[in-house]
Amino acid sequence: KKKSNMERGMDMKDEEKLYKRNGILYPTIMSPPENLDALKDLEAREDDIMLVAYPKCGCNWMVGVLRKIMTTCGYTLPERPRLIEFHSPEVQKIEAEMPSPRFMASHLHPDDIPVSFKTNKTKILVVFRNPKDTAVSYYHFMNNNPVLPKTESWDKFFSDFMSGEVCWGSYFDHALAWEKHVDDPNVLIVTYEELKENLLEGVQKIANFFNFPLTEEQVKGIAGESTFSAMQLSSKTSLGKYTNVFLRKGEVGDWRNHFTESQSKQMDEEFKKKLSGTKLGAKLKY
Ligand code: A3P
Repeated sequence: KKKSNMERGMDMKDEEKLYKRNGILYPTIMSPPENLDALKDLEAREDDIMLVAYPKCGCNWMVGVLRKIMTTCGYTLPERPRLIEFHSPEVQKIEAEMPSPRFMASHLHPDDIPVSFKTNKTKILVVFRNPKDTAVSYYHFMNNNPVLPKTESWDKFFSDFMSGEVCWGSYFDHALAWEKHVDDPNVLIVTYEELKENLLEGVQKIANFFNFPLTEEQVKGIAGESTFSAMQLSSKTSLGKYTNVFLRKGEVGDWRNHFTESQSKQMDEEFKKKLSGTKLGAKLKY
């Protein structure tokens, strides 16, 4: 029997679980160099549904929402992960032949996303989350996911997060790069916080953006099935004992249980330095 990625992770030494490419860390099991190399051949289509998120900002949540929107509209999607960098070169060849509309996702920095997404004006949904909760979520993910190395301590992880020494790079680099695209007509940026506040409105906004015609009833149904507790329950069959690795707490403000005063101050200062006066910064207020 072929080993699962989680099982492979348990067999691997922590120091082998990450590698660096162009100065950015990636997880060896999920995004090996050959996957990233093969992405240069990915030919995006105008009608692809693309989701981009920095890790731990709510990517799987939005994958769930988009899957439900698309299946409600009568489309069938393959069961494998949607992240393009998780696809082996062989899977990328299969994905290249899939009928439209395809659904893809990525954690890659916008500058590392295959250029054909830009040239073909593919619509991109971007989900962001306030950096404090993102860091806390990331810290627990490192410790609970066997494909990633365990962190030494919260303090060490916090300093790695601040310097961008985490998989897919610096949160602030991603945010600054997306800031240049906030007004692009083919880009919709939503935040974890606004989705928590009003999921119904969020689902409607996303469906409108991609021109998926849904009735009010259908939007209501999808939002109802996409709350944290509903997703936790429905993921039990596919994720089993790993359910709480991906669906941990699902709250806004858990950072208050982790950050020291001085870490909070340091993050506020970095946020101010990098994102004050930006449109994305205003959306990410916490
Ligand atoms: P926490 O660790 O704070 O609980 P990603 O999918 O990008 O890795 O993000 C994971 C974060 O999104 C986790 O945050 C996870 O619990 C949260 N999440 C997943 N599904 C969610 C849902 N339906 N509602 C709210 N949060 C959700």
